[in-house]
Amino acid sequence: MMNLQDTNERFIKTFAKSKEMNEKQMDVIPAGFSRRSFLYGPHAIYADHGQGQYLYTAEGKRLLDLNNNFTVNILGYNNQAVNEAIIKSLEKGYSFGNPSEEEFLLAKMLCERIKSVEKVKFFCSASEACVGAIRMARAYTGKDKFAKLEGGYHGFCDEMAISGHVSQDHDHGPADCPKGVADSAGIPKSTMSNVIVLPQNNFEACEKILRANQNECGCVLIELQAAAGGSVIMKPEFVEKLEALCKELKMVFIIDETGTIRASKGGLQAFYNVDPDLTVMGKLIGGGIPTGAVGGKKEIMDICLDEAIISGTHHAHPMACAAGIATLEQLDDAAYNYLNGMAARIKKELNAWAEKMGYPFAYFGTNSLMGYTISREKVPEIVSVRDYWDTTDENAMLVYALEMAMRGYYPVARGQISLNLPTTEEDITNLIEDSKEVITNIFE
Ligand SMILES: Cc1ncc(COP(=O)(O)O)c(C=O)c1O
Repeated sequence: MMNLQDTNERFIKTFAKSKEMNEKQMDVIPAGFSRRSFLYGPHAIYADHGQGQYLYTAEGKRLLDLNNNFTVNILGYNNQAVNEAIIKSLEKGYSFGNPSEEEFLLAKMLCERIKSVEKVKFFCSASEACVGAIRMARAYTGKDKFAKLEGGYHGFCDEMAISGHVSQDHDHGPADCPKGVADSAGIPKSTMSNVIVLPQNNFEACEKILRANQNECGCVLIELQAAAGGSVIMKPEFVEKLEALCKELKMVFIIDETGTIRASKGGLQAFYNVDPDLTVMGKLIGGGIPTGAVGGKKEIMDICLDEAIISGTHHAHPMACAAGIATLEQLDDAAYNYLNGMAARIKKELNAWAEKMGYPFAYFGTNSLMGYTISREKVPEIVSVRDYWDTTDENAMLVYALEMAMRGYYPVARGQISLNLPTTEEDITNLIEDSKEVITNIFE
C-alpha cells in the first residue's frame, strides 16, 4: 500500500532540479511561482519546453501533458501553423494601440462557430472577461447583484472568488441555500453582499432564491461543467429551466465556456438546448497567448458602445488573435471527435476496471476536459461540488497525481485532466495501464 510520505520522498528525488529551482525562486516570488494552482505536493514541477503531446521538465523528464495549461494547449506544443502565425504577427509589430484585422477575423470565427454568439469583445484573460460580462449585464439590466453557482470558478477577481471552492473547513450553509464564502482573504464584505450563491443541479432551490432577489439580481453566471471543484456536470434539464427562468425574471443568462469551449466547434453549449445571452471564453482561443472574450447577443453587447465602459491596453492583442485563429483553423469536427473519443475511452476502460476491482476511483466528464476522483467509500453520483468534496480522499488523490508524474504523466492533483490533439491511442493505453498500477498500489 502506498503512503504519501514515501511518494513525496521519491517525487523529490525524481524532480530534484525542480526542487532546487523552487527553493531559489522562493527568495523573489512568494511560493517560487505566481500560479497558486501548482501549490501542491512537495514542490511544483518546473517546465523546460514542450514538443507535441509532451512537456519536458527542468530535469529533462518527459511527461504526457494532461494539464495542457489548464486546457489551453489543445494542439500540444510547437504546432507549426501556430508558431508561424505568432512569428508573422510579431514581425508586423509587437502590439498596436490601433485595432487590427486579426481581432475581426477571430471574432468572426467565434460568431460562426458558436450559435449564440453574434458579437465579441476581447480581454486579456477570462478573469477579466467575467468581470466585463457582469458589468455589461449590470449596465443592461440596471440591477447590481449577480448570481453564480456554488463550486463555479470564474477567475480570481473579488466578486468571482466567492464559493468557488467548497472546503470542509468552512460552514457553507444548507445545501439548498448556500452561504457565500470568500475563497480568499482580502475580499471585502461589501463585495460579498452583491453575490448570490446558487446550488448546482437543484432548480427548485435556485428558483426560490432568484425569485426572492428578482428586483436586485441582474444576471446568472454558470459553467456547464464546473472545472475547479471536481468537474461537476450540469444536467440539461437544470440548465434549460434556469435559462427560461432568467428570461422570465429579466436576468442576463451567461455561460462561462472558458474551459469547456474545447468540447466542440460550438463549445459545450452545443450539446444543450440553450441560447445564452452572453458567453465567456478564454484559454485556447488565444492559441497559447493570453486572452479572454465575451460574446453574445448584439443587443446586450452593444451596451459597450456608450453605457458600459470597458477598455484595456492589451485587449485583443494581435498576437493572441493570430495564434487563436491558427488554432481554431485546425479544430474541425474530426479533431474534437478524436479528443472526445480518447476521453470516452479513458472513462469507459478505467471505470469498468475500478468497478470490477471494487476500488472507489472514477473518471467523469463529457469531453476532453475531465475530472477524476478517489473517494473514501463508494464513488457517489456527483451532482454538486459538495458530493465531490464530502467524499474525496484528498491524500489518495495527491498520491495518484504525484505517482503518475513519476511515471511520465502530468495530471492536476485536484482531479482534473485535459487532453491534447497529438496524443496517440498508444499514449492512452499506457495512461490506462499505469493508472491501474498506481490505483492498485494505493488500495492493496
Ligand atoms: C471557467 C473559468 N472561468 C474563468 C477562468 C479564469 O481564466 P483566467 O485564468 O484566464 O483569468 C478560468 C480559469 O481557469 C475558468 O476555468
